[in-house]
Amino acid sequence: MEREEIEIILQTAASFKNKTEVPPLQGMTVINLFLEPSTRTRASFELAAKRLSANIVNIARSESSLLKGETLLDTARNVEAMGADAIIIRHPASGAPYLVARAVQSAVINAGDGMHEHPSQGLLDIFTIKEKKGTLEGLKVAIVGDVLHSRVARSNIHGLLKMGAQVYLTGPPTLIPAEIERWGVSVHYRVEDAISGADVVMPLRLQTERRAGCFFPTLREYATLYGVNAKRLRLADPEALLMHPGPINRDIEVTSDVADGLSSAILEQATNGVAVRMALLYLLMS
Ligand code: CP
Repeated sequence: MEREEIEIILQTAASFKNKTEVPPLQGMTVINLFLEPSTRTRASFELAAKRLSANIVNIARSESSLLKGETLLDTARNVEAMGADAIIIRHPASGAPYLVARAVQSAVINAGDGMHEHPSQGLLDIFTIKEKKGTLEGLKVAIVGDVLHSRVARSNIHGLLKMGAQVYLTGPPTLIPAEIERWGVSVHYRVEDAISGADVVMPLRLQTERRAGCFFPTLREYATLYGVNAKRLRLADPEALLMHPGPINRDIEVTSDVADGLSSAILEQATNGVAVRMALLYLLMS
């Protein structure tokens, strides 16, 4: 996406915030095809579709015919044949939504694909920063932890740089992708160097389901060296926002006092996720 496209989504999301029943997608059908666990993304896409008056059907892997051997493309073509105007996909494989988008006419939205991208999360994070800070231009955003496995980090990096923010990455060397500086970010191996003076501090979830625990000696060492705690957060700008995409591993990537503290925008991220996803559905389907 270009900056102008992101701006349109942010403006549309702002117009939908706090709207609970509007008619633009009346008579249209959305399929939530979630083949990996999710709380926030699945619920907020469902709420977004309902608030726009669309019909929505949830399909989870554990209750689907994927378990009987049906392919992803056959699943997508069958739900399209039943009248799906949009298919929202979360999938453990990077690229799965793009494969589906080539095979169907319905709008396809990536709700998180493997280690690749989580675009609606990046957009809701950018919306939240803009809402709290007024602009992203020139802000210093420190992204901390398991960057290697994080689709949230990748989508945020692309979006934040387009919006004029500076992105500082920090984490264990084994969890920072090789040559990521070529994306236009700076990399620091002392967490304090990345957080110092930051306007936004974003610890990432340690992705144990992607075997992140094999990339450093112990969880205690990880928390000691890279966990965001009150002492480290004091190095950031006094007005800094603490953000986390969720779900949180409390007292590993972030301490509970910080996650629940006054700087925390974590629950506002969840609130804004609904408005941003309303904007995405509206712009793609109406
Ligand atoms: N942030 C996020 O994607 O959370 P869920 O996995 O709960 O959807």
